[in-house]
Amino acid sequence: MADSSSRQTKFILDEDRMPRTWYNIAADLPVPLPPALHPGTGKPAGPDDFAPIFPMALIGQEVSTEREIEIPEPVRDAYRLYRPSPLHRAHRLELSLDTPAHIYYKYEGGSPAGSHKPNTAIPQAFYNREQGVRRLATETGAGQWGSALAFAGALFGLEVKVYMVRASYDQKPYRRILMETYGASVVASPSPTTDYGRRVLAETPDSPGSLGIAISEAVEDAATRDDTKYSLGSVLNHVLLHQTVIGLEALEQMAMAGEEPDVIIGCAGGGSNFAGLSFPFAGRKLRGEADYRIVAVEPEAAPSLTRGVYAYDFGDTGHLTPLVKMHTLGSEFIPEPIHAGGLRYHGMAPLVSLLREEGVIDARSVHQRAAFEAGVRFARTEGILPAPESTHAIKAVIDEALEAKEAGQARVILFNLSGHGHFDLASYERYLAGMLEDYEYPAEKVEEALAALPRV
Ligand SMILES: Cc1ncc(COP(=O)(O)O)c(C=O)c1O
Repeated sequence: MADSSSRQTKFILDEDRMPRTWYNIAADLPVPLPPALHPGTGKPAGPDDFAPIFPMALIGQEVSTEREIEIPEPVRDAYRLYRPSPLHRAHRLELSLDTPAHIYYKYEGGSPAGSHKPNTAIPQAFYNREQGVRRLATETGAGQWGSALAFAGALFGLEVKVYMVRASYDQKPYRRILMETYGASVVASPSPTTDYGRRVLAETPDSPGSLGIAISEAVEDAATRDDTKYSLGSVLNHVLLHQTVIGLEALEQMAMAGEEPDVIIGCAGGGSNFAGLSFPFAGRKLRGEADYRIVAVEPEAAPSLTRGVYAYDFGDTGHLTPLVKMHTLGSEFIPEPIHAGGLRYHGMAPLVSLLREEGVIDARSVHQRAAFEAGVRFARTEGILPAPESTHAIKAVIDEALEAKEAGQARVILFNLSGHGHFDLASYERYLAGMLEDYEYPAEKVEEALAALPRV
């Protein structure tokens, strides 16, 4: 290993080198993205169908095929609170694994909310405010997305209402308090405040909730109030677009480090942090400028990319959203209450799904105990306590690094450390006490949910 007094650990970009445009992978796709369909007519949904719940600027980004989309100056100004984010070389993790692999990570946990989620919460709040919207409704799984939107709402003077998945509401009370401190109001989902929530509670009073249910409640809230729009923290094209600021910075920072990644890894719930890091690299791969192996890592309890089907499905459990073509386990599938609440989703971003279908990216799934074991190892070597979602990526990184050792290869691995786990200590406590359980892949429940897929 290099002399430790001279080895570089962080690669830092000056503020003026923060990207001025987001990267839109729609410009480089090998085949066009299948359009979203209206849930009633089954016909391609147009801007008017989305207008009740999203501002026009975001609808425009959702369907744009322009390669570069300008980041408005007020958004760049808010990004400057925490961007550019650092790229780290994980020297100490490498040493503990005794691997010839070089491991780099982009750290998004230094944002005010503690994850990558403000990268899209800020522009979403900005464009809504520009259109005169006063209130936003949203769902949150882990609480990271709700915290990010609550923070962005505070920056741009918008009221924020958060439907927080019941399992996370109970596991992570401090996330709720953070959202309330930013000024948001938070209810556990399913909640008695929407028609859909009341229906779920009537059938299943002790429902742990799911992202699919919370999305239905937030969409219903936005669709039934004139002053409110809906905001989604993942899955949609414009969300993934905003997150590409991560990968655009990483391209420059890897050049500063003088290395090209062989493997790029991110955990995937709805796909936004994975896409955020990997799409600018995937774009180079699609344009024939470079080659990378790109791997999405999902939980064994909700493995949409690895075991789901590629089909049109609803984004929510209450069937209020348009139909999108994606890898899905069925919109009625409720994942087990794993501690990585942000990965408990039945579907996957249509853009990520298409790239998987086209063989541009790979996917694998991991159990939560193995993920937490990797997270603890990371904390004990690199010092940062990762969010439970991010530990899924770390598990895959460690496996890659050990394979490189076996093969005697100096592989370069880049991953996205999407958030810190400071509000997830109860989960770490359960892991350390040996009380965390693994859930087998719920084949029967998935089969049942897939039987109910809409016919398109
Ligand atoms: C820290 C963290 N990483 C990853 C995710 C998964 O979401 P996505 O796949 O959209 O990045 C979440 C979701 O809440 C999260 O909080």
